Amino acid sequence: MSEVILKGIKKIYDNKVTAVHDVNLNIKDKEFIVLVGPSGCGKSTTLRMVAGLEVISEGEIYIDGKIMNDIAPKDRDIAMVFQNYALYPHITVYDNMAFALKLRRTPKAEIDKKVKEVAEILGITQYLNRKPKALSGGQRQRVAIGRAMVRNPKVFLMDEPLSNLDAKLRNEMRAEIIKLRQRIDTTFMYVTHDQTEAMTLADRIVIMKDGYVNQIGTPQELFNKPVNLFVAGFIGMPVMNFFQESKLLLENGVYYAEIRGVKFKLSDFQQKALKRKNQKATSITAGVRPQHISVGSGDLSANIEVSEMMGTEYSIHAMCGNDEVVIEPVNNT
Ligand SMILES: Nc1ncnc2c1ncn2[C@@H]1O[C@H](COP(=O)(O)OP(=O)(O)OP(=O)(O)O)[C@@H](O)[C@H]1O
Ligand SMILES: [Mg+2]
Repeated sequence: MSEVILKGIKKIYDNKVTAVHDVNLNIKDKEFIVLVGPSGCGKSTTLRMVAGLEVISEGEIYIDGKIMNDIAPKDRDIAMVFQNYALYPHITVYDNMAFALKLRRTPKAEIDKKVKEVAEILGITQYLNRKPKALSGGQRQRVAIGRAMVRNPKVFLMDEPLSNLDAKLRNEMRAEIIKLRQRIDTTFMYVTHDQTEAMTLADRIVIMKDGYVNQIGTPQELFNKPVNLFVAGFIGMPVMNFFQESKLLLENGVYYAEIRGVKFKLSDFQQKALKRKNQKATSITAGVRPQHISVGSGDLSANIEVSEMMGTEYSIHAMCGNDEVVIEPVNNT
């Protein structure tokens, strides 16, 4: 059992910057939670409070029902992997991984067993006798993860662990983390500003902006039911198109979006949601996913500016009045 609860968490730094406002989050045992949001939104600060590396200004953090506010980092049973994983350069991979266990005076045979077991899981057995400088970026990152794993933490914290890697390695390591997660029974809190990482890794995503949590939900919930324009624009690739100066119309009990004078009937889900709120007709910004626009002889006209072919997919950049529109036709063939 390693449940993590954040209750009314707030962080005010010494310079009076409020980096995190009132974060409430119940992380279930073995859940993989991803904190995502733009630079400066308070992701690292939140994680560092869970780790005990920052003082909590207000609120409480519980791990397994025990309040952690005044517990030292080393006694919290957590492990953290950072972006700049800072391995000890003068000792071998083996010793880097064994370091924390030696500090805890773990018996030698037990250390040896644990290091070898974790190295096997991460595919770094053949590098155990090398020094970090003789490893590639991806291999070093594995060692950093291994160093955290040997401690069998209750909670695994990761702050942008892949952002130092090139795109190809990042994709590979992302898959590694998914596999890793299936092999170790731990609760994860993972920080990234990359929505693809968030969408592919998370059981639930916590999306933050300016120190506030905007929405908490599964990747599908955030994609299909964003609560505001920020979430709608942050989640999904390519990003959602926004048509300014659109209208919400209500005619004979049926809702339509009017974009540049053209009427579109809204989906059943949207009809129900709007009816429940008893929403009146109003002016809106209409959001449409690139995958939900097709090119043909419809009523809405746009000027195609660029068409990009990317193997099996292609995307079209067009101007619809003053609105830039990206279209990614779904290939059904
Ligand atoms: N030690 C500090 N003292 C004062 N302000 C800080 C400190 N650390 C962070 N901040 C501020 O707190 C806010 C949140 O910072 P934080 O590092 O948590 O953001 P982040 O979401 O992790 O961003 P990034 O994606 O760039 O890593 C920022 O405005 C930052 O400038
Ligand atoms: Mg950060």
